[in-house]
Amino acid sequence: MSVLEKLSSADAIALENKYGAHNYHPLPVVLSKGEGVHVWDVEGKQYYDFLSAYSAVNQGHCHPKIVGAMIEQSKTLTLTSRAFYNDQLGKYEEYVTKYFGFDKLLPMNTGAEAVETAIKICRKWAYEKKGIDEKAAKIVVCANNFHGRTTTIISFSNDENAKKNFGPFTSGFIMIPYDDADALEEVLKNDKNIAGFLVEPIQGEAGVYVPAEGYLAKTKAICEAHDVLFIADEVQTGIARTGKLLAVHHEDVQPDILILGKAISGGAYPVSAVLADDHIMNVIKPGQHGSTFGGNPVAAVVAIAALEVVKDEQLAENAETLGQLFRAKLNEYITESNGNIATLVRGKGLLNAVVINDTEDSSTAWDICMKLRDNGLLAKPTHGNIIRFAPPLVMNEEQLLECVHIIINTLKEFEK
Ligand SMILES: Cc1ncc(COP(=O)(O)O)c(C=O)c1O
Repeated sequence: MSVLEKLSSADAIALENKYGAHNYHPLPVVLSKGEGVHVWDVEGKQYYDFLSAYSAVNQGHCHPKIVGAMIEQSKTLTLTSRAFYNDQLGKYEEYVTKYFGFDKLLPMNTGAEAVETAIKICRKWAYEKKGIDEKAAKIVVCANNFHGRTTTIISFSNDENAKKNFGPFTSGFIMIPYDDADALEEVLKNDKNIAGFLVEPIQGEAGVYVPAEGYLAKTKAICEAHDVLFIADEVQTGIARTGKLLAVHHEDVQPDILILGKAISGGAYPVSAVLADDHIMNVIKPGQHGSTFGGNPVAAVVAIAALEVVKDEQLAENAETLGQLFRAKLNEYITESNGNIATLVRGKGLLNAVVINDTEDSSTAWDICMKLRDNGLLAKPTHGNIIRFAPPLVMNEEQLLECVHIIINTLKEFEK
């Protein structure tokens, strides 16, 4: 079949079902165009995008500045590998390290790769700087975490579906409850072999769980006291999504290792990065880590453009303002309707979730997302009865209010 041939939605879905592995369960909508906060399906119907490719498209679909940078660079030089230098990587590394306040950056492509990178750096630091006996280093992680899909990362997941029949697993991880600083203190007090604490500042995939105020600052202080690296996975929460440039900035925390992905490219290109200061990053020597595509010149210019858009268009400030409005409006509805169908809205900035009044194994949240689709808005359940709402951050107030209207009217259709 020619790639130029126009497909109907049904044809496109049938093709994916027949020839693609069934490792996702997409909402049945086939998109062929995006611009700003909108996407269009192959039949031309317009939707508000309330997923933003899991918070990768914070700058809006096909942002002209980002796409322009990508096209220009693609005409000149796309890939050298790191066997040679290229003329864009250094500029990118300087820009991003200054932007986030770190000495050094290690470039990768996907979020999971960046998490793997952070784990390797942390372990090496533990042996070479902290003095932990070889192979004894442990990293503390949180229950219900989501850090990606590689074998090592799923080794410290407690999601049965993500893990089952993928063993044997990587050892060296200790799981504690999320949002429980005392649990961290307890582990660090009793185990001298802890190298790092890996945490999502808000647990996005788990259902947008926002920890209690003070949790991040407290756990950072505990890590400092025990010479343990605080590793923030901001792949989903970073780059203005939660109303600050980084979610840890809500508590003035500077992580020892920062993991970024998704929106660092505005969703235009796979770009991820690990940032740390010299005393940590310098444990990595030539030949010990890398990626053919990591740090390629297209990624470099795309990421600079994407980060410039975040500042130029004040996306963090916009996410903060619109997020407050979103939660206020949803809360009004929840109160008015006595939690009949939606019981709770939670989140920060424009990373929010609505909890649906049904059991986790019910299909209600999915059914609501199908109806939202019919009503012109795309969102997806995270776990069972939770729907995540994360539009591009270039949305304006009028658009947000229109979307709130669609969401509330749709929820009303499901009132019991
Ligand atoms: C917090 C977090 N870390 C890591 C990842 C993995 O990123 P990727 O899908 O690009 O590998 C995700 C993806 O959703 C994420 O939310």
